[in-house]
Amino acid sequence: MEKVTKAVIPAAGFGTRFFPITKAMPKEMVPVVDKPVIQYVVEEAVASGCDDILIITGRNKRAIEDHFDVSAELNMHLQNSGNTELLEASERLSDLANIHYIRQKEQRGLGDAVLCAKQHVGDEPFAVLLGDTICLPDTGEKPCTAQLADMLVKYQQPVIGVEVVPEHKIKDYGIIDGKLIEDRVYQIMDIIEKPSPEEAPSNIGAMGRYVLTSEIFEILEHTAPGRKGEIQLTDALAKYTDYLGVIAKSTRYDIGDIDTWIVSNLKLLMMDERYKNLVLQALEK
Ligand code: UTP
Repeated sequence: MEKVTKAVIPAAGFGTRFFPITKAMPKEMVPVVDKPVIQYVVEEAVASGCDDILIITGRNKRAIEDHFDVSAELNMHLQNSGNTELLEASERLSDLANIHYIRQKEQRGLGDAVLCAKQHVGDEPFAVLLGDTICLPDTGEKPCTAQLADMLVKYQQPVIGVEVVPEHKIKDYGIIDGKLIEDRVYQIMDIIEKPSPEEAPSNIGAMGRYVLTSEIFEILEHTAPGRKGEIQLTDALAKYTDYLGVIAKSTRYDIGDIDTWIVSNLKLLMMDERYKNLVLQALEK
């Protein structure tokens, strides 16, 4: 197993926790500071060396395709009005990557969304990046997905990105039972989807980034619906033989619901020199 060049971005969920924002627009299109969440995710995949990106979409998700497509009318308008800066930004966005789309016909869970990528991915190892999660690398580090891909090459095993989870959040994560084999690297024995703190084997949970092998597709095909009647990626991972959990040198910003979106926006705004002072000045008034 060498380089990872394919990335799958599941973005077909209902986003019910974002209602009413998601009644007519995908949650993956909500803005974080100055661009939609999914743009951060695609940029991470590209910066990690993935030049073939498959976004799993569904009904109501056309805005995602339009966002990464060429807008001939807009480009013409920008050209005619001499707005070269914006024209270049628009062209950079549509040239970002070779993006493919496939529709998940029914929202049957994250595992089912990943299974939709089977034919496209073939036999290669591939990255999965959740479309509602931003990961920014620590200063001087590679993007999170690239760090996980390096571990797949080093250990020749699939890898899931994990992080330390505060106790009150354990019930929201896939929690691993693992043995530390190197700084930040766990050999995983088991993973449990959204356990109670009493059932949880640790406080280390999956954070929305994976580098998997094609064996996962066969496992997913035989995985029965689990929690919430959905096909859970975690249940399939639990049947993998040897695989690792890696704490990447990065910070994750969850955009899964309105509270985490607001907090992530504020944190990223305060890290952005262009907007930080604007916010501070507005709060002083
Ligand atoms: P979530 O677990 O947050 O589900 O999905 P959701 O349906 O989007 O949100 P709620 O629970 O209704 O509020 C995590 C990621 O997996 C994708 C979502 O689009 C999101 O990016 N997903 C989830 C799918 O692609 N298909 C599914 O059937 C479920």
